[in-house]
Order: sequence, then structure tokens, then C-alpha cells
Amino acid sequence: MTTTESQQRERIPIHVHDTADEVARTLAREIATLIHQRASSGRSLVLGLATGSTPVRLYRELIRMHREEGLSFYNVITFNLDEYHGLPRDHPESYWRFMHDQLFDHIDIPRTSIHIPDGTVPRAAVYDWCRDYEKQITDAGGIDLQILGIGRTGHIGFNEPGSGPDSRTRLVTLDSMTRRDAARDFLGEANVPRHAITMGVGTILAAKKIILLAWGEAKSRVIADAAERPPAETLPASFLQQHPDTTFLLDRPAASELTRFKLPWLVGQVEWTPALSRRAVAWLSRHAKKPVLKLLDDDYTEHGMSDLLTEQGPAYKLNIRIFNELQHTITGWPGGKPDADDTHRPERAAPHPKRVLVLAPEPSDDALGMGGTLRRLVEQGHHVTVAAQTSGNLGVPDDEIATFADFLAELNTPAPVGASLATPSPASIVPRPLISESGVQSPESILSSCSGGVHAAPDLRRYKALLRRGEQRAATRACGVLAENTLFLDLPFYEQGRYRQFRATEADITATVALLRKITPHQIFATGDSEDPSSVPAVCFDILRQSLARTREDAWQRDCRIWLYRSPARDWNIAEIDMAVPMSPLELTAKLQSIRHHKSQRDQQTGESWRTAEHHDQSVARAYDEFGLANYEAIEPFRRYQIA
Ligand code: F6R
Repeated sequence: MTTTESQQRERIPIHVHDTADEVARTLAREIATLIHQRASSGRSLVLGLATGSTPVRLYRELIRMHREEGLSFYNVITFNLDEYHGLPRDHPESYWRFMHDQLFDHIDIPRTSIHIPDGTVPRAAVYDWCRDYEKQITDAGGIDLQILGIGRTGHIGFNEPGSGPDSRTRLVTLDSMTRRDAARDFLGEANVPRHAITMGVGTILAAKKIILLAWGEAKSRVIADAAERPPAETLPASFLQQHPDTTFLLDRPAASELTRFKLPWLVGQVEWTPALSRRAVAWLSRHAKKPVLKLLDDDYTEHGMSDLLTEQGPAYKLNIRIFNELQHTITGWPGGKPDADDTHRPERAAPHPKRVLVLAPEPSDDALGMGGTLRRLVEQGHHVTVAAQTSGNLGVPDDEIATFADFLAELNTPAPVGASLATPSPASIVPRPLISESGVQSPESILSSCSGGVHAAPDLRRYKALLRRGEQRAATRACGVLAENTLFLDLPFYEQGRYRQFRATEADITATVALLRKITPHQIFATGDSEDPSSVPAVCFDILRQSLARTREDAWQRDCRIWLYRSPARDWNIAEIDMAVPMSPLELTAKLQSIRHHKSQRDQQTGESWRTAEHHDQSVARAYDEFGLANYEAIEPFRRYQIA
């Protein structure tokens, strides 16, 4: 394995690319070459395939090559890694459905060459079925190229922590984090199957060549652990180190925790830019468990940072400089402090008040990521508009809508005064029937027309969107935002797409450009950079990026700053925070109250964030305290985004 000095800690060859699309194009070409080579010698290529968001771009590119370049899959045999146990094939979330929708239905692969674990095999027959799957792989000549994604637990296939390197195809129980990650697809964690059939780690390691793909920052920690730590059953992907021909192909955010990017001074010469110096000192302070101002020359030299001292030391001088830089990120004036000297403040004083646009990929993202700051901006007199970019209707479990639909039905049914005071008989608590003039349906008719998620009846999705609108209005109102300034873009990509397969369209950009031109903001708060590129926040951010490029010549852009906030589920490197907005205990309580208006989200993936928002803001405050800066109850962090 050829590595550079900076890759010395990586036990697996890793290639980092600018974008996931670039990786997909390169890999699709490589697969096409393999197919051609095999075809020319009259043999088949055996591919091991994965599902999930990660390979979708690769499959799109393969379909494009089939359509536009005549790439044939006639001599390709495929074996999929896994399938949920207990799901019928035609369930919208079955991997059988996924593979046919995403790839097989669009290429010329013979149906008999497709192999996907069968989730409908009765429990008692699973063992024999799995042995037969292994035999079929062997009979096909073994897997030539295995494509993998990776779960946040470190799973490959559904080999959760505890899976050994010799494990083979079998029935497994899914980890709770894995089930939480799938909760959105299944409209609630309770609907996610508990078991799956998966190829084992040993089955995967038997492939001749393995390529693992990962996008987005959420995967960065597990990628670094899999590549840089000794192999262990606690992280099954780490066993890939034992394979002679495995490569990781990553985008930059997924690679960000590798030592060569995170702590580059530990693995070679670096150029000590101001940003890197700040990152290094902050890291040292945390690592040595000392406030910045107490770091000694010895602390620097003992942690491989002597050359930083030589360039910018002694420690005393360097410490003070970085201390001041960190100190200057703290501000109680996120929109700038009017009439104050703003030389060292994150945001400029003028103009005041500012026109502020807060963009939330889904209603609730704003409250979770920056509810405290939102309230401050309003209190400090800025003109704040909050725009939910998508309706978020896919994030509402079906049963959440029953109460809402019942309310509507009741409202539209003339009932005798006082009827509600009577003791309800079983019949009277049954929701009322469809009311034709108003178009309002009973909860039953709405719910019975639904098969879940994206396949739900349009009415159901519309009602869910309205439910989220109501929650969003209540939450922003609690932060002081005027009702007319709480907007809903309902971007079409979301209404037309589904989880794992979202893509920005021209209509999304047009709508966003129109909003920007209407508000002509001095500040935009947004989120979603560095996330998995097919996730809702990442697509929304990409739409914003493209909309900013379209409006580059507009006068307002010259006077506009963009601040990135963060979902509480993601950590930020504390040294990369450009603005830290503190909250008192009362302000934190007020933020949590505004989040609680998003009732439909309490069991969803954001429900996890809901619970973690408090801990996240408190942990940022703790980090500032440990640097020796100030001891606040909680802090909301922001990073400045430079318009390209
Ligand atoms: C899917 C599979 C899983 C996924 C992993 C990542 O067949 O085997 O290991 O690759 O859970 O999922 P995504 O790509 O959705 O982040």
C-alpha cells in the first residue's frame, strides 16, 4: 500500500474526493471497465451491492452509462448484502424494492442474475436459506467487487458491533442506533424491523476487491476509527484492514476526522495558518485538560507542536493570542451590536436593524439549532423572517395526524351545543364521516388511504404539512417572530422525492432566488453543509448555494453575511466556531419550550435531537469554560460561510 507521510495512521488505502458525484463517476467507470474485460473473455462479473443513501449516486451513474453509452449488464451477476427480515418484497422500504427502483429496473441485467436476501423466509428456514446464499456466491465464482456503505455503528451490511471476522450470512438483530437512523424511512422507530438477514463479515472479506463509500460528516468518526484503530468486534468495518484489496472512497466531510485532516501536525510538516494554529491550541487545551492560558512550552513540545512554538511562541504569547481569538467569538449580539466598536466582534454593528433570513430545511431545524439566537435577534429589533424550506410532511408519523384530522372533522360537523359535555358513548368518540362540501375527510378515510411515507395519499401528506406549519408557527411565535414572517417554501424537490433520493431541481432554485430577492437579507442563517449529499439539509444547502450564485450580482449580496448553524446531532470542532451566542438558564428553558411545539417530531429522528439540543448547547458552553473563557449555561455555535 502506497501512502504519504500524512497517511501513516491509516491502515486502509483511502482516497478523498471533492464531491460524492465525483467518486460515483470514477467508480462507475471502473465497474464499466471490469464488465468489458469480463465480457471480452466470455465471463461474468460478480458484484456485491449495498442499499441505503450512499450508493444511490453510483447507481444513477451506472444507469446513465447504460442509457447513454450502451453499457450492458447482461453478463453481470449481483449479490446484495442484506434485507430486513419480515418485510414483504413490495414494502416501500424493502431492499428488494430499493434495488429494483434504484438500479435493476433501469438496466438490462437478467432477472436470474439478481440475488437479494429473502426477508420473507420463515424464521425456522432462515439458517438453511443463508447457507444456500453462501453456496450460490461460491458457485458464481465468488464476489469480484463488493461495494459497501458504512453505518454510524461501524456496521457493514447489517453486521452490527459484536460481529466477528468469521461471521457468515445469517439473521441478526439490529442495533438501536441503526433503527433510529432508519426511523424516518419507516415513519417512526417502532415500525423499523428488529431483524435482518445479512452477509457476514467473513462473507464480505471473501470478496476479491472491496470498495467502501462514505459521504457526509456524520460518518467521519466511524471512518477514522475503522481505518486508524486496531480491528475489533466493536467496530466491524475495522476488519476490512485484514483484507488485501480494500479501498475507502470518501468525500471531504466524511474524511474530516482522519488524523491527516483533523490533527495534521501529528503526522507531518504543516503550514501554521491562523486557523490551524487556533485549532491546534484548542485541541492541546482539551487534550492536556488545561485552560488555554495555562499551557506551558512543555505541553506544546510533548504533543508534537514544537514547530508551532518556534514560529509563533513562546507559549505565553501564543496562548494569549488564541485566548483572545476564542474570546472574540462570544457575543450576545448575533445581529451585531449597534453603535459599538465591532473590530473584534463576529458580526458588524451596522446596519441596525438588519434584515435577517433564517432558513430551516424542515420546520423545527431552526428551533433546534438556533432557537436561543432567533429569540435574541427578534428582541434586539432585527427584522427576522424564518422560512421552512421543505414542508417536512414525510417526518410526521401517520398516527400523529389522527388528532388533527379528527379536529377538522369535528369543526366541520354541526353538533348540538353542549353535546361535547355529555358522557361520550363509544359511538360519539368515533370520528365523524367525510364532509363533502368542505373536502375534509374523516381520520379513518385519511389513514386508510395511506400506505406510508412517500406513498401516502396526497391528502395525508397535505394534512401532515399543515400540522407541521401549525407547530412551526407556534414555535417561531414563542421566539417573537411575527406570523407573517414565518414562511413556508414547500420546495418541490421534497414533495416529489423521498428520503435517500432527494435531488435539487430548477424549481427549487427559482423559489429560493425569489425569496432572497424579496428579503434582500443582511444576514442568512442556514444549515446542511457537510451532510450526506442526499439528505434534506444538504439538498437545501445546495439549493441555497446555487441560488446565491445566481444572485451574485445583486447589490444586497455585497452586504450579506451567511452563518451556518448546526443540528444538535452533529458536533463541531469547537475551534472552528466563529460566533458563539450564550444563553442563560432561563433562555435555555425558553428555547426548549419553543422546540416542544414540534410535537409531531418527538419520536422521530429529530426527537433524538430534541432531547440532545439541551445537552449539545451545554456541552459547547462547557468547552468554552474549559478553555478558561467564560462559564455560561449554554451556547449556540455558528460558523461563517464565505459565498464562493
Ligand atoms: C445497506 C447496508 C448498510 C448501509 C449503511 C449505510 O445494504 O448494508 O450497511 O450501507 O447502513 O447506510 P446509508 O448509506 O443509508 O448511510
